Amino acid sequence: MKGRLSILRKIIFLFILVGYGITISEAYKPRNVTWDSYSLIIDGKREFIYSGSYYYWRLPAPTLWKDVFEKIRAAGFNTITMYFNWDYHSPRSNVYDFDGIRDVDRFLNLAEDLGFYLIARPGPYINSDNNAGGFPGWLISLPGTTRSTNPYYTASWMQWLSALDPYLYKHQITKGGNIIAVQVENEYSVGPLEPLYMEQLEAKYRLDGIDVPFSFNDAYPGDHWVQGPGHVQLYGIDAYPNGFNCTYPDIWGALPTYFEGDHHAFNPNEPEYLPEFQGGSTDYWGGPGFSKCTQMTNASFENVFYKNNLEQGASMFNIYVVYGGTSWGWLPYPGDYTSYDFGAAIAESRVLTEKYPQLKFLGYFLECMKPFRRTNHTEVPAASNSKVHVAMREDLETGTQFYFLRHKNASGFTLESTHISIIGDSKGNYSSVPQEKDTYILLNGRDSKIIVAFYHFGNQYLIYSTSEVLTHGRMGDSDVIVLYAGEGQYGETVLRTHGEPKVRTKDNITSHFNHSSSDLRLNYVHHGIQCVDVQVSARKERLKIYIVTTEIAASLWRGEVDDQLVLVYGPYLVRSIELNYGDLIIRGDVDKDTQVTIFTEVPFNLAQFNEEILKLSKTDCDGRTTSVRGPPKVSLPQLNNWKFQMGSPERFADFDDSRWLIADKYTTNSITPPITYPVLYADDYGFHFGDVWFRGHFIANGSEKGIKLDGVGGHRKGAFSAYSVWFNGEFLGSTYGNKTFDFPKASLRIGQDNVISMLLENLGHEKDYPNDNNEKRARGFIEASMVGYNATITWKIQGSCGGEHVPDPVRGILNNGGLYGERKGWYLPDYPDYDWEEVSLPYNFNQAAVAWFRTSFELNLPLDVDVPIGLLIQDDPSYRYNALIFINGWMLGHYINYLGPQHDFVLHNGILNPNGKNDVAIAVWGQDAVGGRLGNVSLHAYQVLRTEPRITEINYSPNYWQVLPRLEQLC
Ligand code: GAL
Repeated sequence: MKGRLSILRKIIFLFILVGYGITISEAYKPRNVTWDSYSLIIDGKREFIYSGSYYYWRLPAPTLWKDVFEKIRAAGFNTITMYFNWDYHSPRSNVYDFDGIRDVDRFLNLAEDLGFYLIARPGPYINSDNNAGGFPGWLISLPGTTRSTNPYYTASWMQWLSALDPYLYKHQITKGGNIIAVQVENEYSVGPLEPLYMEQLEAKYRLDGIDVPFSFNDAYPGDHWVQGPGHVQLYGIDAYPNGFNCTYPDIWGALPTYFEGDHHAFNPNEPEYLPEFQGGSTDYWGGPGFSKCTQMTNASFENVFYKNNLEQGASMFNIYVVYGGTSWGWLPYPGDYTSYDFGAAIAESRVLTEKYPQLKFLGYFLECMKPFRRTNHTEVPAASNSKVHVAMREDLETGTQFYFLRHKNASGFTLESTHISIIGDSKGNYSSVPQEKDTYILLNGRDSKIIVAFYHFGNQYLIYSTSEVLTHGRMGDSDVIVLYAGEGQYGETVLRTHGEPKVRTKDNITSHFNHSSSDLRLNYVHHGIQCVDVQVSARKERLKIYIVTTEIAASLWRGEVDDQLVLVYGPYLVRSIELNYGDLIIRGDVDKDTQVTIFTEVPFNLAQFNEEILKLSKTDCDGRTTSVRGPPKVSLPQLNNWKFQMGSPERFADFDDSRWLIADKYTTNSITPPITYPVLYADDYGFHFGDVWFRGHFIANGSEKGIKLDGVGGHRKGAFSAYSVWFNGEFLGSTYGNKTFDFPKASLRIGQDNVISMLLENLGHEKDYPNDNNEKRARGFIEASMVGYNATITWKIQGSCGGEHVPDPVRGILNNGGLYGERKGWYLPDYPDYDWEEVSLPYNFNQAAVAWFRTSFELNLPLDVDVPIGLLIQDDPSYRYNALIFINGWMLGHYINYLGPQHDFVLHNGILNPNGKNDVAIAVWGQDAVGGRLGNVSLHAYQVLRTEPRITEINYSPNYWQVLPRLEQLC
């Protein structure tokens, strides 16, 4: 059914393309991928691969996928590097789901419709700060080692690739799609490495018809899989120079200067590839928070470090990540919390951060600067200022040169002014640039610049510009180039013309023509938008130069219509610019009333910003301008009318656990050896995610004094997952690791059934970065020894309802653990909570126990407004409680009040209904007698944008009444 739909979709799309004058043979035309030491060559065309990482599984609302793709595309990226997450698709062995939020076909189609190339990374191991690095829960308890040739492991990943490969197959560029490479494994660089395993993976791909090149991301410059058995075609090195602790965001790591040397040493016949370069950082429970990570990898970092990558000749460059998203449900590995904002250029809430413009500057530059796809490093004279580093790359074919400038001490904060030498031999030599007296090139703190020289574009010849090139193109019979630098900085641009040109400008731009060299030199100071027209009277060709500031460039967007450049200044975002039946349609977003100015020579009848027809009037520099209405004020409802119910009856002796599994295993495949038996590891009983209850029954003879427990739920950096213990309903304490709990004498029931109840939260399974089966560490109790008298205990265990048999496959296995309210569907929309107690927040239930809070709210947001909404929990951190936040049944937040740092949870539209009723359920686990409470809970908007009218597609997901029969059947 799906295959047919997708064919229909393609046919419709083809008709649309034909309408736009593109022939059928061009769309979905199979293309080939080759390469040389400089770059990839796609269908004979050199390409610079400017890529960002973005994953469907961290944005569980397909309605938003396009928004993020468009934001990435608008920054000039031409490639998406995407992980496919095995864990996300497979709740149990041989079961695979590619529907709804898991519809990879839809994600790939969207990427292709926007023209992205794709680098697919299906693992099987993907790391990605993800539960078990992307291994599914059921794999945890299989025998033997993972990431090896162990036959149990082999048979398992074969299933995954057999399920996924048909999607990859048809989306390959060689089959008319856009996948240009498939990455084999992930950082398979440490621990015991088996070439046969790599060979097996590659053989499987080839068997399944994957014929694009294989790529590999080495965790460090280790020369892995470049040659020999299991080698790939495109080798690359990952680098995170600032590391993963954002506590001191102003401290930078060393600038990596080894890429080019390693490229020459390891894989000189392939392009220089950086499969993951730092685009932010992970954060951890109790960590400094993502705003610090944004700061640590801010626009200055991007400017200095990314240009350094270009300086070293990288021509395939991926930023990990450009959009992080949300590790919703039980996706994270134990170190990470729900948000995977990562401090990326596009925030988890989809808001563009201050890091975005710098990515766009690079994207625009790389898109237009064709000679940059084939450059060699060439020695050049030092800068006049000894604190300034200058290096040069040159395209030997066209003679174009790229001078890279930065502080020698890359993290230096000082203001440095300098002159440089531009040496073009027969093309011209300029020993001190800028030439104009009393002017200089400025490096403002942590800054870097690319100065382009001897560059032919259109009919023009740019000798050099000390301003940076943003973009260029054609407008009517004129070439156009846009140059930028910081406000107040000097700029000097030299062009070689055929005879003395006429220079027309209203701005403060001076010109000097040198008759012997035919160099026209323009000097100016960057301020606002300035422009100059250069025309050689004898010839028709004209050049228009827009000289702007960095701040202006941030809001200046480019588009192309009929091979003509269109520049739009002002909006928060421009998604696309198209000519539709003679009308110029600009799709974009504004965050306030915005003066929008269009620069183009394309004739059009009328211009529209989204649906709004623009009444344009002329401005300087041949622009046409008008004001576009900003978004309306939006007010969000308060969260009131809370309903409350206690939710941990498992702690009481008389609770009926007759349907629970008996823990009766005496062997385990975990790498943690048990101290006592039976094995009390949740994974061995099919419970891989979230909270797990254990109940030990024994008939007391009176000598039992207590129990010694050692529980593991995962930890990181001193933040441990807790467990709580009750004896016959009486609370004994909450702790982590090992501890002896005394039975209160009065509670012991001699000659009768006594029950020890433990609630343990599995924070997730470790990543296997070290390749030592780290993901197979125990989640449960290593030890449960009676103290006093060794009574025989019958242990029962209950995790998520149904274990690997998921009652609600739409939300899926990662959505739920085994709290009572989860097993009974209290988290689901429309649960009948009418007999629950009414409370208002903050509310103390003053018990060490689990309790549930439910409410609902209505939203009615205008269709042309995009409001990313967050839920905020605020409380005194001295209360020790955890909370799970469910929105319309989807677990969108795991909160630990005493650790943080996350208090704010993004509620993605699509899960959230912006035009209807929304149900909130919050499960609180109070770990102290006084800890049981829930603080203030409120909604807030991250941003309000006016955008094109759109209907939010709400995830189809069942309500309580629909899931109930399965819950009743399964637990
Ligand atoms: C890399 C890994 C990625 C991601 C990244 C950032 O080592 O390949 O999957 O985890 O680190 O944390």
